[in-house]
Amino acid sequence: MKKLFLLIIVSVATLNGFAQSSGFDKLDEWTKVWKEGQQTYFGYPVNQQSALQEFYEWYVSTGMDRVNLNNAGDPMTDKPWNMSTQAFEREVIEFFTPLYGFDKDDVWGIVTHSGTDGNNHGIYFGANDLYNRTGKQAVVYVSDEAHYSNMRLCDLQNLEVKLIKSDPMGRMIPEELEAALDTTRPALMVYAMGSTFKGAIDDMKALNEVLARHPNMAVYRHVDAALFGGYLPFTKDRKMVSSKDQHFESIAISGHKFFGIDSPSGLFLCTRRVYDNQNNFNVTYLNGNMKMINCSRDAVQPLKFWWLIQKVGYKKWSQQANQMMKCTKYLQQELKKIGWPCWRNEYSNTVFFKRPSPEICSKYNLALGYDESFGGELAHVVVMQHVTKEKIDGFIRELKGEN
Ligand SMILES: Cc1ncc(COP(=O)(O)O)c(C=O)c1O
Repeated sequence: MKKLFLLIIVSVATLNGFAQSSGFDKLDEWTKVWKEGQQTYFGYPVNQQSALQEFYEWYVSTGMDRVNLNNAGDPMTDKPWNMSTQAFEREVIEFFTPLYGFDKDDVWGIVTHSGTDGNNHGIYFGANDLYNRTGKQAVVYVSDEAHYSNMRLCDLQNLEVKLIKSDPMGRMIPEELEAALDTTRPALMVYAMGSTFKGAIDDMKALNEVLARHPNMAVYRHVDAALFGGYLPFTKDRKMVSSKDQHFESIAISGHKFFGIDSPSGLFLCTRRVYDNQNNFNVTYLNGNMKMINCSRDAVQPLKFWWLIQKVGYKKWSQQANQMMKCTKYLQQELKKIGWPCWRNEYSNTVFFKRPSPEICSKYNLALGYDESFGGELAHVVVMQHVTKEKIDGFIRELKGEN
């Protein structure tokens, strides 16, 4: 009965855009603004078609909303804590293990709080691994188009960073890396698997060839695949994001981007060797050796991830990923048809183009960029699940009016 009541409320909510008054005018107004704005939310890489309605129905109807959940502790130990969702978290990591080209016997991972949290682990694990292998502090190499979190995290971890120049399309230039290398110290590479504005993927093969010319220099490779790590495993280009093919030690992905978790979350995976080479903190009251950065960790996000694996899963994610790629190509084709200067990297669902009027930028929540080599002021659209062909047609009509 309770469930039926909940279902009716949620159905009315869906019909009206939002359910009933919260009792707070400010909150109701904000909800309305969001539900309207969501229709033309084009500029940021989040899936606005979250499939978690039934999850929330289950959560509230079972009273889980009154349970305080916490995943403090290591989900990959043999003794995950009963009063946590770590058993589900572990299954999430197991689901993604082959998708990122790790072996099930040689992997460690967690559901993180965000892509940034995953990068924090990648940089921290990388620096420790290199130090414990060589007794020397690493230098971090990252492209000047990579997400700013990587620079921020190096700052936080007091690591020396060398920003490597990228080519106009946003890929780290191998010759620039060669020139910047300090071969007396280990190299911690942070590869962009989808740079934030241009959607560039660093050419890992070419960059690894540069590193291979210095066999005495220890190397660790972390991949920042916040957005692309979501959809690429479900496309024909899945090898791009496989550690078997690309030879990286760790990878970070956001959960709220492609997967449609409705608030920040993510995945971090690395090889078992890297995990085993981290500094030990034996914490008896948490049942084990804590190697990750956070003590308390979100326990609901792993459940949502697990739920989506059951409810959406490989097949539907593949359909969505392929649909996104089709719509991305369609957007670029339609922009070209109206003579609007635009560019896109291979494998990317991001199209960047000459910046339209402030009105259009605001209506479509376009993210803004600036690059002299493309004529100065730019904006981009990230084609996520909710950016459909029909919506693209509407967007193009509005641009046409400005041409
Ligand atoms: C390439 C890249 N890395 C990292 C991040 C940060 O991820 P999060 O927002 O999940 O912390 C982003 C966010 O857009 C990104 O585009």
